[in-house]
Amino acid sequence: MLGHLLRAEGIDCVILERQARDYVESRIRAGVLETVTTDIMRRLGIDARMDTEGLVEDGFNLADGDRLVRIDIKALTGRHVTVYGQTELTRDLIAAAPARDLEIIFEAGDLVPHEVDGSQPSVTFTKDGVAQTIRADFIAGCDGFHGPSRRAIPAALAREYHHEYPFGWLGILADVPPCHDELIYANGPRGFALASMRSPTRSRYYIQVAQGERLEDWPESRLWDELEARFNPLSRHGVTRGPALEMSIAPLRSYVFETMRHGRLFLAGDAAHIVPPTGAKGLNLAASDVAYLSDALIDFYRQGKDDGLLAYQDRALSRIWKAERFSWTLTRLMHSFPDQNRFERRMQIADLDYIASSEAAQTSIAENYVGLPL
Ligand code: PHB
Repeated sequence: MLGHLLRAEGIDCVILERQARDYVESRIRAGVLETVTTDIMRRLGIDARMDTEGLVEDGFNLADGDRLVRIDIKALTGRHVTVYGQTELTRDLIAAAPARDLEIIFEAGDLVPHEVDGSQPSVTFTKDGVAQTIRADFIAGCDGFHGPSRRAIPAALAREYHHEYPFGWLGILADVPPCHDELIYANGPRGFALASMRSPTRSRYYIQVAQGERLEDWPESRLWDELEARFNPLSRHGVTRGPALEMSIAPLRSYVFETMRHGRLFLAGDAAHIVPPTGAKGLNLAASDVAYLSDALIDFYRQGKDDGLLAYQDRALSRIWKAERFSWTLTRLMHSFPDQNRFERRMQIADLDYIASSEAAQTSIAENYVGLPL
């Protein structure tokens, strides 16, 4: 997305991707886009498939036992979210690259950034066994939590904030109609579950699993039993079973790395911060980071001004911390914690009761869910 935003202004850039194109295009990620994200795709003119296949959602639901609390995001904020898989968005961006002269080098291995605090940084990598070097004005570290960019910043110059949750999410993707027309985040006596979707014929479900649980512990039939138990009492259509297209377990963590800049290296997205998936903020935060970063780089090349570059991390972090807060709050509200006492469980119920009865509380949730302004 950053590459496209820069190429649209005639700025040269090269994308180095560690994985093969097939891998990137089949990796399953979350699927709820804020208008901040869909607006960028529109501005780029890479919106045709998103507009036909994306589902506009005017609300979503929080559930407790057998009670659904609908958050009417359209009525409360005038906005909506779009259900469109991150995988599809990535495919669209990759497909549009050649026509826009945006070079993507897949399977670039052993990548190392060099001299990022000097005037001419470079990256070295290998492609098909051949060592290569690219010199540049700037490096954008959009390489995820495990990528090499963050490690190029000396620990003494940074501060890390970390929070682990004592559970993960087990996800299943299947070609069956969703059990409900809108997403349901449920926290019942059996813990958290999420009913989501990719299209009118493709469902995405998750349930909370204890740390240490493995996929082998979860034959498909066991997962469908759980999903039926959670969602049949809550949903309009009931759960339809079908063969899994994908199943995986993801850990939940909150993480922020401050600083997002060192010299001519800028971090964006998961390279600098992680949110738990509750609220689907991960991809949207990466998109707002690159909106800020592309604005700053475009100003630099057009007008020779570096104030945008200097302000990048403060602008980005102010939005990131608020999304961290929202994802953490929704995670605490909607999961069952192994060491939770009866009082804490009652606090969750009281919290949801309050949300159910207060338009002010619902507005606060809705405006965070649709995405805070840039
Ligand atoms: C998804 O559809 O994969 C999804 C939706 C909402 C979330 C997380 C994941 O909060």
